[in-house]
This record gives sequence, C-alpha cells and structure tokens, in this order.
Amino acid sequence: MKIQIINGPNLNLLGQREPGIYGAMSFDKYLEELRAAYPQLEIDYYQSNIEGELINKLQEAGFSYDGIVLNAGAYTHTSIALQDCIRSLKSPVIEVHISNVHKREEFRHHSYISCACLGVICGFGLDSYRLAVEAIVKKVKSEG
Ligand code: DQA
Repeated sequence: MKIQIINGPNLNLLGQREPGIYGAMSFDKYLEELRAAYPQLEIDYYQSNIEGELINKLQEAGFSYDGIVLNAGAYTHTSIALQDCIRSLKSPVIEVHISNVHKREEFRHHSYISCACLGVICGFGLDSYRLAVEAIVKKVKSEG
C-alpha cells in the first residue's frame, strides 16, 4: 500500500514555528516514527511552500497512490485551484490539520478543499497524520 503525505506552506518549519500551536517536533522526526509504526506501508513525503508545486505533486501522486494525506496549510483557506485539483484525482485525499482550526481565528474556519476530500482530521497535533493513514488503510482493506 502506498501513501503520499503532502505538506503545504510553512510546514517545513514544524518544530520551530509557533511551538505552542504546532508542537516542538520536526516533521522529519515525526515521519521517522510514523514509518517505523507502519513498516508494511510505503509512505512518501513531499513539502512545498508553493501552491503550483503542491498541485503538480497531487497530480503526480493522485492516480497511483492508495491515498493522499494533505495538510495544505494556509492554502486550505484560499485555494480553489487545490479544490479543482483534488476533484480531478482518482486517489482519495484526506485533509489534515495539526491544530483545531475551528478553535482559532474565524478565517481558518472555512476550507476550500474539504468538499473535495474524503474526510477531514484536525486538532490532534501531529497524530492527525497517523489518524489519516489509519483511515486510508481501513478504507483500502474494506474495499478488498
Ligand atoms: C494548519 C492550519 C492552517 O490554518 C495554517 O495556516 C497552517 C497549519 C494546521 O495544520 O493546523 O499552516 O493547516
């Protein structure tokens, strides 16, 4: 089973960026732990601060991977282009957020991508990514 994780803008700074909200662990460290917990899965990782590059990666992964875990960062709240892209793919996309965006500023309450995603997981810290991986594994297994 192949899962692609895609992180959007400023998520390369995890561990340093607003640790009170996003925690103190770098994503590289977290990814190491996640891969160790799921040795049977191929978990690929991509991060970009650039909207078009996120779209290119989604298009590249979106026809061959079993699922995509996407944290689009602030583009979540702005990008119709990401919504259109997710709608075009074959692979299911799960929207994740580290923080509970609904507890934060009002502009974070609306997502342009949720309506195109299989589901949304937010507010569980970095564990949001694991929960999304679990959801993809369950979905694939249930489809046999
Ligand atoms: C985020 C929430 C977004 O509102 C914010 O712009 C981010 C991170 C999260 O993971 O909690 O960059 O997607």
